[in-house]
Amino acid sequence: MNSRDSESNAMHSGGGPQAPAAPLRMEALVSLCARRGILHPSGEIYGGLNGFWDYGPLGVELKNELKALWWRRVVRERDDVEGMDGAIITHPRTWQASGHVEHFSDPMVDCRACQRRFRADQLADAPDCEAEASGQHDFTEPRDFNLMLETNIGASRDAASLAYLRAETCGSIFPAFKRVRDAARQRVPFGIAQIGKAFRNEINPRNFTFRSREFEQAELEFFCRPGETGKWFEHWLDQRLRFHRELGFGEQVLRTRAHGPDELAHYCGRAMDIEFRFPFGWQEIEGIHDRGSYDLSQHAEFSGKDLSEFDEQEKQRFVPEVVETSVGVDRTLLALLCNGYAEEALPDGERRTLLRLAPLVAPIKLAVLPLSKKLAEPARRLAADLRRSFQVFYDDSGNIGRRYRRQDEVGTPWCATWDFDSQQDGAVTLRDRDSMKQERVAASRVGGWLRERLEAAP
Ligand code: GAP
Repeated sequence: MNSRDSESNAMHSGGGPQAPAAPLRMEALVSLCARRGILHPSGEIYGGLNGFWDYGPLGVELKNELKALWWRRVVRERDDVEGMDGAIITHPRTWQASGHVEHFSDPMVDCRACQRRFRADQLADAPDCEAEASGQHDFTEPRDFNLMLETNIGASRDAASLAYLRAETCGSIFPAFKRVRDAARQRVPFGIAQIGKAFRNEINPRNFTFRSREFEQAELEFFCRPGETGKWFEHWLDQRLRFHRELGFGEQVLRTRAHGPDELAHYCGRAMDIEFRFPFGWQEIEGIHDRGSYDLSQHAEFSGKDLSEFDEQEKQRFVPEVVETSVGVDRTLLALLCNGYAEEALPDGERRTLLRLAPLVAPIKLAVLPLSKKLAEPARRLAADLRRSFQVFYDDSGNIGRRYRRQDEVGTPWCATWDFDSQQDGAVTLRDRDSMKQERVAASRVGGWLRERLEAAP
């Protein structure tokens, strides 16, 4: 268990000379996301469920692209990392061993007047009391509120059937350490990576998807020899910063923040947050943690199984230490949306909204647009051909300017227009989302053209 990110600490630390000229209004982004099928409140027709979100047709593509990029960089392109996909509900002893059952809590207060609950460390941001004319709350003393979401397994509902939805995906990695190591014939140093859902009964879900009750994490637990943890910490911090830069996060929106001694969990030697500058302040999107040998030692003790390794050089056993990288998929996706969102005036006096998403993760790579419905047939053929390798969208409704705007708004990096000349020269006009520059390319070359650009990205 790690010390949890502290929103209130970071809320006020950004700004200054790095602030962007026109701050994004979150309402505009929230509205775009719902309107264009990126994401919306879960159970919306019933009024929504606080802290739960559904991703729509474009949102699921964007999320899948983001996860696939992480998987490629962290797992596929390395021979010292193995993947796994563990159960969301793992053995309840897991969470006793990790300390979550006892300690995974936030300080909470109740207001005696309006009956609402707040996180005691975020009171500066609490809305006014609805029951008191003065707006002042009448708070109880803070007490700990455990964030684990509980469920029961089987037909009975008693202490023996109690189980937990995992609060962090690594909960299923540590108990599987020995099995994965032996099955994959690995020896430390090596890592186990996983992407999956995590659940926390947050007291105040807020800032769109930033703090949700159900979310996805992409985590790597990298096991190494004691004495080499520092080296691997630096290595993974560097790798993870590269990843965020690949997403297009420049230094004006990306920074690292080391945890002070008072923020560190007792077993954690060192922790570094990677923070993004959201419209609501600098906030953690990823944590890199030196967890020491805490996890394997705890699980060895609670399970009675030996999770140590034999050091051939030293001729002795040791318990591997862990460097963890833990990134929120939904938070990173929110950062992508905030970073990409822009409203621009065009030379003809019109305005456009656009999402400058890195092409590697854009939910649609190319839109194929016939200039007229009369050209639908060859344009559809081109789209069908390209669809075998790329996410391609076909659209023949409305004027071409409006169709470009619709693609700009969802971050499609390129549009291919099939016009009347295409019938003669077999070429299409390719238009770039950001510069709006156009170039003529043979229709048969569009696939190669796209591949070159995606490989050259960012
Ligand atoms: N295994 C370590 C761990 O879970 P954490 O700092 O609690 O560490 C890691 O979480 C990442 O998970 C965070 O940096 C954040 O991106 C994401 N995350 C945590 N709580 C979240 C929440 N309530 N909603 C959305 N994302 C969350």
